[in-house]
Amino acid sequence: MRRSKGTVLVVDDEESFRENVAEYLQSRGYQVLQAPDADSGMTVARTQSIDVAAVDMVMPGAGGIEFLESVKEVDPFIQVVIMTGQGSIETAVDAMRRGAFEYVSKPTRLAELEAVIRRALANVSLARENRAYREAQRRGRLRLAGRIVAKSPAMRRILAESEHLGQTDFTVLIQGETGTGKEVVANYIHANSTRCDLPMTVLNCAAIPDHLVDSELFGHEKGAFTGADETRPGMIAVADRGTLLLDEIGDMPEQAQSRLLRVLENGVYRRIGGRTEHPVDVRILAATNHDLTADVENGTFREDLYHRLNVYQLTVPPLRERPDDVLAVAESVLHSQNRKAGTELALSKEARDALSHHAWPGNVRELSHAIERAAFSARMASAEEISADHLGLPRAKPPAGVQVSLAVAEARHIQAVLRSVGGSKREAAKVLEISERHLYRLLSSL
Ligand SMILES: Nc1ncnc2c1ncn2[C@@H]1O[C@H](COP(=O)(O)OP(=O)(O)OP(=O)(O)O)[C@@H](O)[C@H]1O
Ligand SMILES: [Mg+2]
Repeated sequence: MRRSKGTVLVVDDEESFRENVAEYLQSRGYQVLQAPDADSGMTVARTQSIDVAAVDMVMPGAGGIEFLESVKEVDPFIQVVIMTGQGSIETAVDAMRRGAFEYVSKPTRLAELEAVIRRALANVSLARENRAYREAQRRGRLRLAGRIVAKSPAMRRILAESEHLGQTDFTVLIQGETGTGKEVVANYIHANSTRCDLPMTVLNCAAIPDHLVDSELFGHEKGAFTGADETRPGMIAVADRGTLLLDEIGDMPEQAQSRLLRVLENGVYRRIGGRTEHPVDVRILAATNHDLTADVENGTFREDLYHRLNVYQLTVPPLRERPDDVLAVAESVLHSQNRKAGTELALSKEARDALSHHAWPGNVRELSHAIERAAFSARMASAEEISADHLGLPRAKPPAGVQVSLAVAEARHIQAVLRSVGGSKREAAKVLEISERHLYRLLSSL
C-alpha cells in the first residue's frame, strides 16, 4: 500500500466544489476528510489526526477565520489554507496574521491548491519533527538533571542559576576545587540552552602542552609552524553555534589568552599563521580549580580577560561544605553499582558516619570512586552491607573529643571558621590571619 502523503481536511459548504477538491487530492495520494461547515470540521479535527485543513472563508455559521483559530487551539501544528471567492487583500492579510499558512482565491486551480497543500504539509512535518526533537532534548535534560545529585541548598541554587544562565549567552566562570562538579555544571548550563542541539566542546588547557594550546583552540594554516602540514580547524570553529568549555582556564598560555580576548570582544578569530578573520558564534564557559584573581595579581593571567570571562561567576562549593550531598552522592553511586551488579548492598551505620566525617579533598570524584571500590570489596567478601572497612576510611572519631592531633584540631578549626563566615575563603583567611593562598593550601591538604 502506498503511504499517504498526509491527511487533509477540506471544509466547504459548496458540495460539488468540496467533492471535486477531495477527489483530486485523493488521486494525488493524500488522505482526505470532508466537512460541510466549520463546526463539523472542528469535530473531525478533534477526533482524527489531520495535518492540513483547506477551508472556505465564508460559510453559513462560523467562517474560515473562526475555524482557523479553533483548530490551532486543538493542535497548533495543523496548517490552514484559506480559500475564498470574495478575495480581498485585507482578508488575506487578516487570515495570514491569524496564522493561516496560505491564502488561495476561488475559483482555484486544483494543481495550484495542491502545490500549496504540499508546502503546508512539509511545514507541518518539519514542525512536528522539531517538536519531537525538542521533546527528546528536554527528556535528555531531565535525565541529566536526574543524575546530578543536588540535595544541599547550595547545589540546588547552582542548578537553578544554571537553568537561568542557559537562557542567556553570558560567559560564565565556574570555580571550585577539583572534583566538585564544575564540568557537570557546565554541561547543565549547556543542556538548558538553545545551543543544546550541538554537543558541548571541551578544551582542557592543562592537558595539552603550552605551545599547542593556541593551535588546538584556533586552528592553524598549512606551514604556520614546523609540523603544520595542512590547514586545520581549531576547537573554536568546531564549537561554532555551540558551547565551548575552557577547562583549567588558569593554565591558558599568554598568547592564547590574547586571542581568546579578541573572540570575546569582537566575535572573530584567526587561525595561527592566517590573515583572515573568521566570525564565530560560540558561548564560552570557563572552569578553574584555583583562584584566578591570584593569577591576575601575580601577572600570569590577563586582567582584561578575567573580567571578560567573569561576566557571571558560579562557585561550586567543596563537598565538605555541603554535607547533605555526601550521603546523597554515596547513595546515588551505590544505587547504580547495585543495578549494574544485580546486588542490593546498603551502607552500614558506621559506613555512613565514616563518610560524613571524611573531609573529601577530592570531592565528588573521590567519593564516587570510594563507593565504587567499597561496593566491589563488599561483593568480593559476600557482605550484605558496606562497612567502614570496605570504604577503607577510619571510623568516625567522636566529634567533640579533645584528644586529637594538632592537624585534626587545625582542620576542625578551619572548617568551623569557614562555616561561621558562610564559606567565604576571603573572610575565613582574614579571621585566621593567613593569606588566602595559604588557606587554599591548607584546605587542599585536609
Ligand atoms: N552533583 C553531582 N552529582 C553527581 N555526580 C557528580 C556531581 N558532581 C560531580 N559529579 C561527578 O564527579 C566527577 C567529577 O566531576 P567534574 O568532572 O564535573 O568535576 P570538576 O570540578 O570538573 O573536577 P576537576 O577540577 O578535577 O576537573 C564526575 O564523575 C561527575 O560525574
Ligand atoms: Mg573538570
